[in-house]
Amino acid sequence: MFDFTPDPTLPKPETYRQLVQAAEALTDGERDGVANMANVAALLAEFLPALNWAGFYRMVDGELVLGPFVGRPACIRIPVGQGVCGTAAGEMRTMLVEDVHAFPGHIACDAASRSELVVPVTRDGQVVAVIDLDSPEPARFDARDAAGIEQLATLLGDRI
Ligand code: SME
Repeated sequence: MFDFTPDPTLPKPETYRQLVQAAEALTDGERDGVANMANVAALLAEFLPALNWAGFYRMVDGELVLGPFVGRPACIRIPVGQGVCGTAAGEMRTMLVEDVHAFPGHIACDAASRSELVVPVTRDGQVVAVIDLDSPEPARFDARDAAGIEQLATLLGDRI
């Protein structure tokens, strides 16, 4: 049994340190990328408050395809360059969107989403997936969240 007990009163950097440590332990030695993404999606949902969606889109034949997640059913395919996820993948950079309604081309999978953080996962200089977090709260994510999820993405580069 894996028993992680996130403490919602911790400062964000400490929460992300524990989250990355848990992800490192859970994925260590496991070669199946889907299994690793599934467990990490579950960790994201457990550790991070005020999310309505947390998970992965994988790069498959040049487009993003829905991967393991926690949340409501979501859009299955996202072309590179479209939406927040496709922009993060196309430009290979973190996208921190405080108000999704103000982001041109935002793809609304869940009408409850108000803010979003998307971080590319790369391997050998190529985007292999993106980590996508959605929140029903406006401006839920800040630079500390971006830095924490970027650490997670670095860990996962050769584990998914
Ligand atoms: N909002 C995303 C689509 C994915 S869902 O949020 C799960 C986007 O604009 O790329």
